Amino acid sequence: MRFRVRPVDRLAGTAEVPGDKSISHRAALLGALADGVTEIHGYLEAEDCLRTIAAVQALGAEVTRKGPGHYRIAGAGRYGLQEPGDVIDCGNSGTTARLLLGVLAGQSFWTLLTGDASLRQRPMARVTEPLGRMGAAVVGRAQATRLPLAVKGRRPLWAIAHTSPVASAQVKSAILLAGLYADGPVSVEEPAPSRDHSERMLRQFGARLRVDGGAVTLEPGDLRGTTVHIPGDISSAAFLLVAAAIVPDARVTVTRVGVNPTRTGILVVLEAMGARVESVGAGAEEDAEPSVSLTLGSADLRATAIGGQLVPRLIDEIPALAVAAVAARGATTIGDAAELRVKESDRIAALAREFKKMGVSVKERADGMVIEGPQRFRGARVASGGDHRMAMALAVAGLVADGETVVEDTACVATSFPQFVEMLNALAGRPAVTVEA
Ligand code: S3P
Repeated sequence: MRFRVRPVDRLAGTAEVPGDKSISHRAALLGALADGVTEIHGYLEAEDCLRTIAAVQALGAEVTRKGPGHYRIAGAGRYGLQEPGDVIDCGNSGTTARLLLGVLAGQSFWTLLTGDASLRQRPMARVTEPLGRMGAAVVGRAQATRLPLAVKGRRPLWAIAHTSPVASAQVKSAILLAGLYADGPVSVEEPAPSRDHSERMLRQFGARLRVDGGAVTLEPGDLRGTTVHIPGDISSAAFLLVAAAIVPDARVTVTRVGVNPTRTGILVVLEAMGARVESVGAGAEEDAEPSVSLTLGSADLRATAIGGQLVPRLIDEIPALAVAAVAARGATTIGDAAELRVKESDRIAALAREFKKMGVSVKERADGMVIEGPQRFRGARVASGGDHRMAMALAVAGLVADGETVVEDTACVATSFPQFVEMLNALAGRPAVTVEA
């Protein structure tokens, strides 16, 4: 599948992006582990999150789809999961694989996990090493550091205090999920705060959890089914917001966007670059996950520096922000972001390589890049490399390019944002992006 993208002068209107990917995964997993029924509203029905639904079904949770994004999960209970009858295929989804490893570390049966070619390349040691120290048995490729992996737990697991070398919510969440099965409190400390959806949702399901400074500590115990409302995904909204900032005559509102402060780095950066972000309906404090409507229009962008503690707050938005940086005046630096090299693709290399095809030069660094702007994108034939966020970032670049852009290998957009083309075209008021088989 490919996108054919024609430049646009104008974007206007309102969009409601689909549910948050990170929160959706967690709702399915916690619903499966809880006692009683969990009702989920706003679940992201995209490939990654449907992998997690299939996984919890394979492990014995009863899942009923009651309507678009509305799921009912009859939880198996903390000790009620069953040995799956087949290998669980996590597809492209790192969150499915890593969070499941944490859950499976607490089970008394073997489970086999695999994934697609991209996921089989991604590092798993960051999760399998601490889970091994808790007593889980993990075997598989490359000394149990790459999928396919087989995992079997130990009951109870040994409690650990883990200091993670990377700020990763997937690592933190895997250990906290395993911690439900530990013989004492389990804690995780990370170098910078990563997204805290697991902490918020574990509490919502009745877990005892405390956060002191940089460490999260969970007491093992049962979870109680509940109702979860999932806001729209700011990581999907990112593509529409960046498009609004760079298209000459644009004003776009995205409604019901999740604005958990551990995820809003993109808004901080767009404002630092000179965009005006209007936010309406500040999410109530007591909400497990706050959401607001965001409005953003064309802006005369200037360069900024992205690094340090801000990086985990916008790590998935860097492909979109790199497009904004090309349009901005001055040198935008992105640092402390070596994690980009182990996402669905090596996003530092991919951005430099694909932008070059569009006539834009990017200085690659080991942990980021420097983008000297403004530069003009030139319509060209580019490729996503199977990475959904690269596919969407390149399509947004095509909206402001001279001439037509073809983005190859775009079926991957269905992993997180299947409605991307439809929503972008509705804002453009015409088919700016056409999909070819
Ligand atoms: C995610 C955490 C981040 C993020 C990913 C989703 C999550 O990954 O990039 O898209 O849902 O926990 P890391 O934990 O590897 O930083």
